[in-house]
Amino acid sequence: MSGQADPAMARLTGRRVAVGVTGSIAAYKSVELVRLLQTEGADVRVLMTPAATAFIGTLTLETLSRHPVDTDVLALQADGRIGHISAAHDVEVIVVAPATAHWLGAMANGLASDSITAACLATDVPVVVAPAMDGGMYSHPATQANVARLREFGYTIVEPGEGFLASGMTGRGRLADLPQIVDAVVQAIAAAVSSAAPSGAAADSAPGAPTSSTRSDLAGRHIVISAGGTTESIDPVRFIGNRSSGKMGIAIARDALDRGASVTLILGHVSVDPPAGAHIVRTETATEMQAALRALTPPEGPTFDVLIMAAAVADFRPRTVAPKKLPRTADLTIELEPTPDLLAETAERVRVGTAASGLRRPILVGFAAETGSLDRAPEKLRAKGVDLLVANDVAEPGSGFGTDTNRVTIYATDMSPQALPLLTKREVAELLLDRVVVRLAATEPATEPATEPAAEPATEPATEPGAERARAGA
Ligand code: CTP
Repeated sequence: MSGQADPAMARLTGRRVAVGVTGSIAAYKSVELVRLLQTEGADVRVLMTPAATAFIGTLTLETLSRHPVDTDVLALQADGRIGHISAAHDVEVIVVAPATAHWLGAMANGLASDSITAACLATDVPVVVAPAMDGGMYSHPATQANVARLREFGYTIVEPGEGFLASGMTGRGRLADLPQIVDAVVQAIAAAVSSAAPSGAAADSAPGAPTSSTRSDLAGRHIVISAGGTTESIDPVRFIGNRSSGKMGIAIARDALDRGASVTLILGHVSVDPPAGAHIVRTETATEMQAALRALTPPEGPTFDVLIMAAAVADFRPRTVAPKKLPRTADLTIELEPTPDLLAETAERVRVGTAASGLRRPILVGFAAETGSLDRAPEKLRAKGVDLLVANDVAEPGSGFGTDTNRVTIYATDMSPQALPLLTKREVAELLLDRVVVRLAATEPATEPATEPAAEPATEPATEPGAERARAGA
């Protein structure tokens, strides 16, 4: 997992990588490749051709990656999404290692008979391909033509090395050294990020060190973000409050604006200035914040694409507010009542509003401030009805209220939790919004790829030749 990464060294922190494994004896090396990518901080998911499963079990790669392994182009995920289509949209790079001669031929011709070719066809992220096979197979003009075709697609080819092959012969066909493949992945992401950057911004955008956003992938989206702490009056002078500074929510607002979103920022008490360009709604109490959220979720449907609830809403308020300043007495007992759960209420209003209107359901993101352990986070994710929950231990150094850094774990309804290293709040914001962008794309109305598996002949995956397995190089 990305939690194993040394943040100082990792070059793929928070990056989402798909590893495609095809039917070569070198498939066993994919285990180590997954580990190396994770050591760089990547969140890795694996796709395999049916032939690859003859060389290495899915359980190994499922256990290591902590994601289900997609081996079947016709399969649906537990959430109903098509595995290879969600891989195509959820990751930032696909690396196919080892890539057999058969797979190169299928990919060169756009034959989507396995999950990896299908994902590569459906995606617009960089693809890195590391071939491995017998030397004669690799030098054959057919294979070389297929490799050349993949280069035309813009794919990075990590050339196989010379040496001893599984056949007992020597030649050029050995899977490239794994660090070389990892370097190619790092470079592919760096190139993709810098090509998306406006001129002059590329130098800020090395992978693993996300800084200011350089994309416009939230253009046309309305994002509502709550930030800061609410306060609940005891009397005209005193209140119950919390230590929230609003820095996390405001960092998200800044990044969302930089990425082209229109932003509504619902603020409680904050200690930093909100960004210019956001529409600001000032609130004091949980009741005022509730009113602001209700105005944005009318019965005819929600008015936003994304809600990120980073505010620290007071959980209790005085049952009655004294109309005049309370005199100092020996003892004072204040009776508290719970405030409503604004996020859960808003999620329910969104559910009802989208069902009635047919509008697309917005992406909902909650935060969870915990102390000591994040054990309660999965239950909060469920109870609040959100897609993503960003949990942190506020008792941990660097992760508390008012700091400029945060160490968070992102929980999702359909993925295993992702622990990020200690990052600046701006970096956390950027990685969180990356995930939001992926989810927005996944909720777009179904397009052509969604029908693809049904359109493929069901027998086609069986065409990956057994002969190739026997001759595949290591
Ligand atoms: N939240 C909310 N309304 C509340 C309390 C919290 O909308 N009355 C939201 C917060 O903005 C955050 C999420 O719910 O996105 C989780 O907040 P947190 O304080 O961690 O959890 P609580 O639900 O308050 O539970 P507890 O206090 O028991 O940890």
